[in-house]
Amino acid sequence: MKKFYVTTPIYYVNDVPHIGHLYTTVIADVMARWKRLNGFEVFFLTGTDEHGAKLINTIHNTNRYALQNFCNKMSAKFKETWNLLNISYTDFIRTTEYRHYVAVSSVVNQLFKKGLLFLKEYTGLYCVGCERFYTVKDLDENQCCLLHKKKLLVQSEKNYFFKLSHFKDMLLERITNSKHSEYIDIQPEERKKEIIGKLNLGLDDISFSRTNINWGIPIPFDKTQTVYVWVDALINYLSGIGYPNNKDKFQHYWPTDIHFMAKDILWFHAVIWPAILMGIGYPLPKTIYSHGFFTCNGDKMSKSLNNVISPQYLVNKYGIDATRYLIINLIPFNTDGDISLIDLTVKYNTDLANNLGNLFFRIIKMIERYFNLNLPYVNKPNISLAQKLSTYFKINFCNNINNVKLQKALNTLQHGLSFVNKQIEIDSPWLLYKNNIGSLNLCISSYLQAIAIIAIHIFPFMPTVSQIMWTSICANGNIANVATQYFINNSIIPETGFLPIYGKVKMPGILFPRL
Ligand code: MSP
Repeated sequence: MKKFYVTTPIYYVNDVPHIGHLYTTVIADVMARWKRLNGFEVFFLTGTDEHGAKLINTIHNTNRYALQNFCNKMSAKFKETWNLLNISYTDFIRTTEYRHYVAVSSVVNQLFKKGLLFLKEYTGLYCVGCERFYTVKDLDENQCCLLHKKKLLVQSEKNYFFKLSHFKDMLLERITNSKHSEYIDIQPEERKKEIIGKLNLGLDDISFSRTNINWGIPIPFDKTQTVYVWVDALINYLSGIGYPNNKDKFQHYWPTDIHFMAKDILWFHAVIWPAILMGIGYPLPKTIYSHGFFTCNGDKMSKSLNNVISPQYLVNKYGIDATRYLIINLIPFNTDGDISLIDLTVKYNTDLANNLGNLFFRIIKMIERYFNLNLPYVNKPNISLAQKLSTYFKINFCNNINNVKLQKALNTLQHGLSFVNKQIEIDSPWLLYKNNIGSLNLCISSYLQAIAIIAIHIFPFMPTVSQIMWTSICANGNIANVATQYFINNSIIPETGFLPIYGKVKMPGILFPRL
């Protein structure tokens, strides 16, 4: 069986889950669900990043018990949110877990043995918000970090350094040469070019440990230092799939197929992470996808501006599946975008309440009116409309998902819905009801087969709604199994269609009440 290993960043626990975290996580979830439907054995990893100075600054307390308690509480909030949103993660890794400590210690020991770590006295400007050192040229005229707008303080420490500079040419080769057996596909192209440009300017060795931050994993051979929080965090991608003790599991899933994140942390994933992996001799991630940043009504989302949109708020307003749908549709993957709640509601009403929801109810209502909710009887199911949709979706919808163009895929879904609406107008079943019951049965049955195709395709995006549609039309079997068969067979519809000969349609509640 083919495997697919997909990850989200592990989120800092100093913040509550918000719409930015939700975006990355829903995208990863759709890809995980999509690959499962295509017969892949999927490992989908998410989790929380719990060490470092940022956390100490947030709770103003260095007591280990207080810190761990806070992490437990905040990590649980992320888990709750993902469970609420139906995120089908395989495992949730926390950097304060023992299994992670073992993995980090093992990686650090190996790098040390290979001579890639060395002690050095260092003076630099550290941004706690970003958890990284900056040089003056990266800052504004007041020596503030561009992201957090806070004046950075000079810090002087004796740290272990990682010989990042040693990997410059190897990285460039692997990022630019698509024929290389270890090619890393960085998406989108514009950001890949930025990374290459920066790499070409030169690569400095980086600080790999901290002396005065004891909320972290100790350097195994020098307990006066803790591992730099970013190195600690990146190793979650190994510890989360069983490294170093569960060799079978680890070897089965490694390397990562797709790391998802926003552009803010692409450098860590595209440069520092592959260098560490080369240092310990492991294969490199295949694809690194970074998306843009959300702003809210023109402003950066932040607690102080009080404009953070919570996933819970969206779910209360739109429902779970609609939230998943809307979030993907909000911004094109590779650009930044502004979110306005008014636009969200317009999109909800247009795409979901008016198009998908209405089409479904229109068909169910016809069955109620013409057949008292019984499935229309036909000798041979009419799958022509379903076939037309299936072919259209295969070329557009499926290809777009395979290329991680989820928003485009959803646009083609809307097109597909209009095919069905048009066909209903052409057939005019209300006229057939009066004078041609045989044709009426065939038409309505073809709409139901089309609904089955739609339900199958929206499954990775809106699993609950698709399940409701499937069971309402009393389609055969479990939707996930049927969809898997369908996609594995290259989108071939069985001649018998998806419905039993006899059955009673169940009237569901309104899928997407108009707002
Ligand atoms: N802990 C590090 C990641 C370590 S991964 C080895 C971190 N955490 S974070 O909580 O700040 O999460 C950053 C990620 O959250 C972004 O890369 C993105 O995936 C998501 N987003 C957080 N805010 C966002 C927006 N305003 N817009 C879009 N996505 C953003 O960095």
